[in-house]
Amino acid sequence: MKKPDIYQRRRSQLMQHMQRGIAVIPTAAEALRNGDAHFPFRFDSHFHYLSGFDEPEAVLVLIAGDKPQSLLFCRDKDIEREIWDGFRYGPEQAAKLFGFDAAYSISLFDEKLVELMGNQPALHLPLGAQANWDDRILALRTRVQGQARSGITAPNEIHDVRMVLNEMRLIKDDAEKSVMRRASTISAGAHRRAMQATRPGKMEYEIEAELLHEFRRHGAQAPAYTSIVAGGGNACVLHYIHNNMQLKDGDLLLIDAGCELDGYASDITRTFPVNGKFSAAQKEVYEIVLAAQYAAIAAARPGNHWNVPHDEAMRVLVQGMIDLKVVNCTVDSVIESGDYKRFYMHRTGHWLGMDVHDVGNYKINNEWRDLIPGMALTAEPGLYIRPADNVPEALWNIGIRIEDDVIITESGCEVITHEAPKTVADIEYSMKS
Ligand code: GLY
Ligand code: MN
Ligand code: MN
Repeated sequence: MKKPDIYQRRRSQLMQHMQRGIAVIPTAAEALRNGDAHFPFRFDSHFHYLSGFDEPEAVLVLIAGDKPQSLLFCRDKDIEREIWDGFRYGPEQAAKLFGFDAAYSISLFDEKLVELMGNQPALHLPLGAQANWDDRILALRTRVQGQARSGITAPNEIHDVRMVLNEMRLIKDDAEKSVMRRASTISAGAHRRAMQATRPGKMEYEIEAELLHEFRRHGAQAPAYTSIVAGGGNACVLHYIHNNMQLKDGDLLLIDAGCELDGYASDITRTFPVNGKFSAAQKEVYEIVLAAQYAAIAAARPGNHWNVPHDEAMRVLVQGMIDLKVVNCTVDSVIESGDYKRFYMHRTGHWLGMDVHDVGNYKINNEWRDLIPGMALTAEPGLYIRPADNVPEALWNIGIRIEDDVIITESGCEVITHEAPKTVADIEYSMKS
């Protein structure tokens, strides 16, 4: 548990933005997997960003205005349930340890919220995030409206609280940056371990197991998303997660995997030869993707807008496609016609944070937004060459992506995933040792 002052500061900041009214932000629901088995519980990112509280069945309530208040609803202490499921803070301890003005039993939520909403001018909700919560809170608002003859008014404005929260989360503070650096270090170690464990004949899932082993042994709670371990042509399936095929001598292996540590995602892709040595054709394609990735990283700096890294990487990739003779004409005409999409069909990055595809708008007033210090994003160009008549056979089934995580600084960016080998020489060396 981090010190509560980080979360108190974030709550105050949000209440200042709200100016007036009441915000209600529930954590995520527990989800049944099948039978009596649940998916591992993962808190709601907004809720956790503001509270640091990681138990299920909890709701944060903030009241802005002259006397701002932050309140938590959570599960009661329950010795019987704690014997089965483990420790619960209970409202009293939770209020003290997490720095709330007060905390209440979640069993009192409906009654208490009706009381708290009375005479508040505005209601701030993560609208649409969890439909059942929207319905429940709006039904409680209707109950407040039913008290009109007693002179009580219900909030007559409803705002999506995520508009402000997304912007807050987009700029990472020092505490967030340090967790993200550590998550990156663990994930980079997992990629090194995967490189060292890979050899012809192994199954993709054996390599996935190496990644998971490395995540967990360093305390990461889970993968941030299902690991992609894609040998040979499987790398051309962008969201390949079957991970159940055998690795072949002479093929490449693409791994897109990152851990989640204390609520923060890392997201790394490396592509390397199953037998430890790039073939001439693989190396030729690899160097193009690597040059594109360096171009994206060089462009990830203040003074550029969001899309500059993508544009820069794209130009390098398209020139590479021309050199490989899989498209013809000029870079500009290939970009104009969209012909490159046969080999590069995704964008070069996304915001990164508590969610792997993190919150935050990419455009403001329909213009790409400027990059500023504290933003975290990925740089992940790739080339995916499926068998086709008009493509040289030596290139068939080569799928390469290289992905790093960066944080924008005053003068450029910090590549926080640099510990995962990336050049041809470093990868071949790492696989030999
Ligand atoms: N691993 C998800 C992504 O790269 O976007
Ligand atoms: Mn990514
Ligand atoms: Mn990825």
